[in-house]
Amino acid sequence: MAVATSVNGGGTMTAFLVCILMFTGFSVCKAQAAAPAVYMFGDSLVDVGNNNYLPLSIAKADFPHNGVDFPAGKPTGRFSNGMNAADFLAKKMGLPTSPPYLSLIGSAKPPITGVSFASGGCGILNSTGDQFIQCISLSQQVEYFSLVNDQLVKQLGPSGAQVHLSKSLFAIVIGSNDFFTYFTTGSTVSIKYTPQQYVDLMVSTFKRLLKMLYNIGARKVMVSGVGAIGCCPVQRKENKTSGCNVGLNYWSSKYNDGLKAMLQDTKSELGMNYAYFDIYGAMVNLFQEPQTYGFTEIKVACCGLGNLNADVPCIPLSSYCSNRRSHVFWDLYHPTETVYSLFSDILYSGSQQYMFPMNVEQLLAV
Ligand SMILES: *[C@@H]1O[C@H](CO)[C@@H](O)[C@H](O)[C@H]1NC(C)=O
Ligand SMILES: *[C@@H]1O[C@H](CO)[C@@H](O)[C@H](O)[C@H]1NC(C)=O
Repeated sequence: MAVATSVNGGGTMTAFLVCILMFTGFSVCKAQAAAPAVYMFGDSLVDVGNNNYLPLSIAKADFPHNGVDFPAGKPTGRFSNGMNAADFLAKKMGLPTSPPYLSLIGSAKPPITGVSFASGGCGILNSTGDQFIQCISLSQQVEYFSLVNDQLVKQLGPSGAQVHLSKSLFAIVIGSNDFFTYFTTGSTVSIKYTPQQYVDLMVSTFKRLLKMLYNIGARKVMVSGVGAIGCCPVQRKENKTSGCNVGLNYWSSKYNDGLKAMLQDTKSELGMNYAYFDIYGAMVNLFQEPQTYGFTEIKVACCGLGNLNADVPCIPLSSYCSNRRSHVFWDLYHPTETVYSLFSDILYSGSQQYMFPMNVEQLLAV
């Protein structure tokens, strides 16, 4: 700390002090944070290392060049060159990033500032992610959360835990992998369901899990739609003109319509407050005017090999670009840290253009 002060001056010291207090003195931190905790659910867009603890999983990012822009250039399991949306969101709330649930197994007390259940490769449906051998489905994530709640009840008492949860943010970013699974050639779910039936199943399953979260005590949820995933490098490379996969985008946006309607219904039924992020709209806007946000490359992944750097994923053998800030995509599926940051700004304080019916800052103030 003394080193930070002498090198960087007083401003840095203040920031550093707040940070130290957040990890050691909860009473002081509470005054600064926008909510007592953030409970994170989802897939690789927000996974901060759960999959590192799944020995058989092949949906991993705990090796270079992932993390090249993370402090000390460290790969952490985040599918990013640096931080991801979970980190930026927590930071905006004045909280530390919620640690991976699987890193806490065996510890008696989960951190009172939140836990992350997010797991790369998985989805809303249990059948999604089978191709990665191991990941944590949304159902399983909710089951893990109920175990965390049991511990919260022990720590805070039943009514203390209820109050804590009612003020906390529940953030859910999931659904892309359900589509990748459906639209993979030879997928079994595409034989079982028409795309419309599949979308409906995703929405009804989501609703059931959301109600379970409500029954445990969740009152404020941020739910992200599915992005324009037909435009990620792994999809564009299949198109002769490097255009987006139109079908994948169509069904993603159909799902988003169903999701939005479901959230509104759930709010009417239960009184659960929500903030919906139209990530699809935000992505389309980004592709239409990338230069506004400082991007010059919207098609080619930064890290990878082959056509659009999307034939080979981001592994130690792959090359990676030096101008990460000018790329929308870090690897064949995931955005760069800069995009995660931009989207977290929208999530937290964006207008109704992409945040419906309110942004996270407003949700936490309800
Ligand atoms: C999905 O898996 C969970 C266990 O994680 C199980 O409780 C649930 O019944 C399963 N859902 C379906 C529809 O099979
Ligand atoms: C490929 O991209 C073009 C635009 O460049 C688009 O019109 C076409 O529908 C795309 N093909 C598929 C299969 O999505």
